[in-house]
Amino acid sequence: MAQEDVFKKLVAHCKEYGFVFQSSELYDGLGAVYDYGQNGVELKNNLKKYWWDSMVLLNDNVVGLDSAIFMHPTVWKASGHVDAFNDPLIDNKDSKKRYRADVLIEDLMAKYDGKADKEVEKAKKKFGEKFDEALFRETNPRVQANIKKKEEVHQRFVKALNDNDLAELKQIIIDYDIACSISGTKNWTDVRQFNLMFGTEMGSTADGATKIFLRPETAQGIFVNFLNVQKTGRMKIPFGIAQIGKAFRNEIVARQFIFRMREFEQMEMQFFVPPGEELEWFEKWKDIRMKWHKSLGMGDKKYRFHDHDKLAHYANAATDIEFEMPFGFKEVEGIHSRTDFDLSQHQEYSGKRISYYDPEKQESYVPYVVETSIGVDRMFLSIMAGAYCEEEVEGKDGKSEKRVVMKLPPVLAPVKLAVLPLVKKDGLPDLANSIVDDLKFHFNCQYDEKDSIGKRYRRQDAIGTPFCITVDHQSLDDQTVTIRYRDTMKQERIKIDALKELITKNVGMIDILKSLQS
Ligand code: GAP
Repeated sequence: MAQEDVFKKLVAHCKEYGFVFQSSELYDGLGAVYDYGQNGVELKNNLKKYWWDSMVLLNDNVVGLDSAIFMHPTVWKASGHVDAFNDPLIDNKDSKKRYRADVLIEDLMAKYDGKADKEVEKAKKKFGEKFDEALFRETNPRVQANIKKKEEVHQRFVKALNDNDLAELKQIIIDYDIACSISGTKNWTDVRQFNLMFGTEMGSTADGATKIFLRPETAQGIFVNFLNVQKTGRMKIPFGIAQIGKAFRNEIVARQFIFRMREFEQMEMQFFVPPGEELEWFEKWKDIRMKWHKSLGMGDKKYRFHDHDKLAHYANAATDIEFEMPFGFKEVEGIHSRTDFDLSQHQEYSGKRISYYDPEKQESYVPYVVETSIGVDRMFLSIMAGAYCEEEVEGKDGKSEKRVVMKLPPVLAPVKLAVLPLVKKDGLPDLANSIVDDLKFHFNCQYDEKDSIGKRYRRQDAIGTPFCITVDHQSLDDQTVTIRYRDTMKQERIKIDALKELITKNVGMIDILKSLQS
C-alpha cells in the first residue's frame, strides 16, 4: 500500500477509534488544533509518564517543574523570540495559498531522494539477492543525477539560510520550477519573515493592558526558574530540570495532522553544565535519548539523527532525532547545546545576577545548557504510525479477512486488558465483572459483552489492547480463563489468580525503565 494511503487510513483510524478529533469539529474545525479522545488521552498520558519517569525517577540529578504558560513579555525579548522566531513565508499570487519557503525547498530535496530510492527499489526487485545497493547507488547514472541535483539545492539552501538571504530562497524556488500545488503556477511573491508567536493582552484595556505572548516553547520557564530550583533544591551542577507543558506557534503551514500544530505539548529538559563540558554532555544526551526511543520496540531502523543545517541563534551544536513517518523521516525530538545564551540574556535583561558557585572548581560561572526537547504530539504520531498494521487473517468459516491491529508498545497501550464474557448469561458477566473490579486498580481494563467474540477481539485489536480475557463456562468450574495475545492471536488457559502478575510484567513500566539503565 502506498505510504500516502497508509497515512490517510491512520488519520481516519485515529478518529474512528477515539484517539484524535479535530478541535471544534462541530463548527467545521479550527486549523491545526486537535483534541485527544478517550483512547488518545490514555496513550498520551502513558507517553508522558514514560518520559517523566525516565528523566526524573531514573536520574537523581534531574528534577521537575511546572511553570506558567504566560510569562513576563521581556522574557521573549531576552530569549530572542520577538526578533528572531520567524519562518520565511511565500504566497502563490494565483491561488493565494501561503507556503513556508524552506519547506517547499525541503520537499524538493525529498523528491530527488525519493526518485533515487525508487530506482534502487526497482533494481532490488530485478536483481534479487545478488543486488549490491551501495555499488548501485554509486554507479547508476539516474541515481547519481538525482543525488547531484539534491546536493546542488542543498548547498544553495544552507547558504541562503545561514546568510538570512530571503531573495536567494525565492530564487531557488524559481530556478527549480517549484509550482503551487493548487494553481499549478510559479507566480510567487517575495519571501518574507513571519513571527510565530501568538500575542494576547493581560489586564483590562482601561488600565492599559500589557501585550503578552503564549509561550512558543516551555524551555524559558525553566531558564527563569534556574536559580529558584538550584537554590531551594540545593542542586549541584551538573543537574537538569524537566517540564511537560503546552506551547503555541502560529504555524504558517499547518499540515500532516498532528505533526505540525498551532497548540501542542512539549517535554523539555534543560541540563546545566560547567562551561566547556557542554559538547561532551550533548553527546551523552544524544545517546540517552536515542536509547529511550528505541526501547519502545518500533524498530531501530525507524530512527536516525539529523544534524541541523543552520544552527539556531543560541546553539553551538544541534541534532534532531527523526522517525520514519508515512511521509518520510521527520523530526520528533531536538537536542541542542544552547551554550550560556539564555541564562546570560535573562541576566542582562532582568539586571539580576544569574550564576552558580561551583564548590569543586571554586569559581562562579553562568552555566551552559544542553536541552532535550520532544513534542508529545509528534511522538504520539510516530508511535501510532509505527503501530498501525493491516493483516489478512483467517476469519469465520475459514475465509480470509482483514484485521487492523495497532501493535502499540504494551506500556503505552490505552487499554491493557479487555474482559469478555463468552455469553451474556449463566453468571459469566458476573465473573467477568468481578475480574475487572479486582484488576482495575492496577491497569486500565475494559468490560465488553456486546457482539460476537470475534468482533470484540477486532475492536480491541483496533485500539491496541495487548490482552483479551474470555470468561466461559469452564471458568465457573475451575477459575481459569482464556488469555489472547494481540500480536500473535495465540490463546491459552490461565488461572484467574495469575492474571495480575502476567499482565503487570508486560504492561508495567519497571522493566522498560530498567532497560534504559543497562
Ligand atoms: N526549546 C527548543 C524547541 O522548542 P523545537 O525544535 O522548536 O525546539 C522541539 O521544538 C520539539 O517540539 C520538536 O522536535 C517537535 O517534536 C515539537 N514541535 C515543535 N513545533 C511543533 C508544532 N508546530 N507541532 C507539533 N510539535 C511541534
